[in-house]
Amino acid sequence: MITLTNISKKVGPRLLFENINASFNAGNRYGLTGPNGSGKSTLMKIMMGMEESNGGTVTLPRKVGFLKQNIEDFKDQDVISVVIMGNKRLWAALQERDELYTQEITNEIGIRLGELEEIIAEENGYSAESEAEELLVGMGIAQSLHPKKMHQIPLDSQFRVLLCQALFGEPEALLLDEPTNHLDMESIGWLEQFLSRYKGVLIVISHDRHFLNTVTTQIADIDYETVIIYTGNYDQMVIAKTAVRSRAEDENKSKEKKISQLQDFVSRFGAGTRASQVQSRIREINRLQPLDLKKSNIQRPYIRFYPPEKPSGEIVLKVENISKSYDAHPVIKNYSCEILRGDKIGVIGNNGRGKSTLLKMLAGVLKQDSGKIEWGHQVQIGYFPQNHSDIVNKKGSQTIFDWLKAKKENVYDQDVRSVLGKMLFGGDDAFKPVAHLSGGETARLIMAGMMLCNYNFLIMDEPNNHLDLEAVAALAWALEDFKGTVIMASHDRGLLNEVATQIIAFEDDGIHNFKGPLEEYLAT
Ligand SMILES: Nc1ncnc2c1ncn2[C@@H]1O[C@H](COP(=O)(O)OP(=O)(O)OP(=O)(O)O)[C@@H](O)[C@H]1O
Ligand SMILES: [Mg+2]
Repeated sequence: MITLTNISKKVGPRLLFENINASFNAGNRYGLTGPNGSGKSTLMKIMMGMEESNGGTVTLPRKVGFLKQNIEDFKDQDVISVVIMGNKRLWAALQERDELYTQEITNEIGIRLGELEEIIAEENGYSAESEAEELLVGMGIAQSLHPKKMHQIPLDSQFRVLLCQALFGEPEALLLDEPTNHLDMESIGWLEQFLSRYKGVLIVISHDRHFLNTVTTQIADIDYETVIIYTGNYDQMVIAKTAVRSRAEDENKSKEKKISQLQDFVSRFGAGTRASQVQSRIREINRLQPLDLKKSNIQRPYIRFYPPEKPSGEIVLKVENISKSYDAHPVIKNYSCEILRGDKIGVIGNNGRGKSTLLKMLAGVLKQDSGKIEWGHQVQIGYFPQNHSDIVNKKGSQTIFDWLKAKKENVYDQDVRSVLGKMLFGGDDAFKPVAHLSGGETARLIMAGMMLCNYNFLIMDEPNNHLDLEAVAALAWALEDFKGTVIMASHDRGLLNEVATQIIAFEDDGIHNFKGPLEEYLAT
């Protein structure tokens, strides 16, 4: 069981939540939900003791598996080690042992080595590698990748490795922060099955409605500066939450009406002879005070991509026979296509097939090994990378405002502020360092850049990852409305259905160009 007692948290001037009291029980599977920036990742880090709260206590079982959102920190480690790190006690003992063996063995070191061997045995250290390999294979990471360094394997595989890290060592509780973000539909299915069989306490953060509905038995929703636990899955929570809210609002309305009638009476007869009646009405007014309903934090950004005054040429892009391999492993072979102005293309296919590789080449940030890519007349490319840290440096102290302003020469401050406002970075939020931004906020910032710069060709690699449901809806609307050209990789069927009029599908037998929407492609 995990219990939170009186947990409060402020970040900068903002109160994220106050006095959360909640318990999470074994056998239940909790979805932790709330819009981007509401504090889900922060709360999870507080539970893990990785971030301080402003008061309150957390109790946890001894072994907790945790999936983090940032892969950067592991890039120079090898895959197997990253998984084994999931068992902290074991990993620390292994590290210390290896270190001690490089020294001259004194008596003292000998004793310490004995202790370490004991810990390693207790934590099943001798079967750690084989357990790690089993998990990796289950997660679809081929044996040949296990000895590699993290940065040598595809991004989505890196995320799977982190997922294996969280699952390693049979944890009694499992805390997962957006595990489906970098998974294709097949692996999401695998994970859903896996989690449904998990016996400990599961808390999972996700913006994927289907996933939440399949996996969770309870929803812990962050809103109104606290956490409310609802029984049932996500859709049931939305219904219950709306019902509770509208009941409270109705009650408030009828109270307000009653109060105004009573006040009317008091002001008419207050100075007169009916003193006792007036007094009892004043008492009644005090009793009736409407509840102070906190504002819900659900908000929808306003996304609009304005193309430049001069449109691109009729032909936006011509790709002829391009190929690309990584370490002699061919990813794209002799692929050709032509993209015309106004095309809205969805790119689909399982992870690791080369969708991101193709988009990077189309965006000009990666060079093909052979073949030709020709960009048309006046094509201006806005690229949204799958890995946000490719273009948003999360280590520095740059503010949101400065990041955005640097995107466009000679831009007026007020135009920067206006775009920021639309993307829900109003007021002082503009001066937050980008290093503090949540996953969804970072995605919103990258999109703000694309809004500011008037591109006519948008290349987007899974832009919906990290975004909350409101923002995905706004994005779908913006892309549908956009007067330029779009190519977008995504696993979100709803988004693809709304935006894409053509499909590029990465299948077992190669890459197919299909001139029709997703539904039609899937029916073929
Ligand atoms: N050190 C800090 N100073 C100021 N604000 C911060 C700091 N750290 C985080 N924040 C802000 O706290 C809020 C909560 O962040 P958190 O990462 O917990 O959100 P989240 O609910 O996980 O969002 P997402 O759905 O996008 O992942 C965000 O608005 C973030 O910008
Ligand atoms: Mg988060």
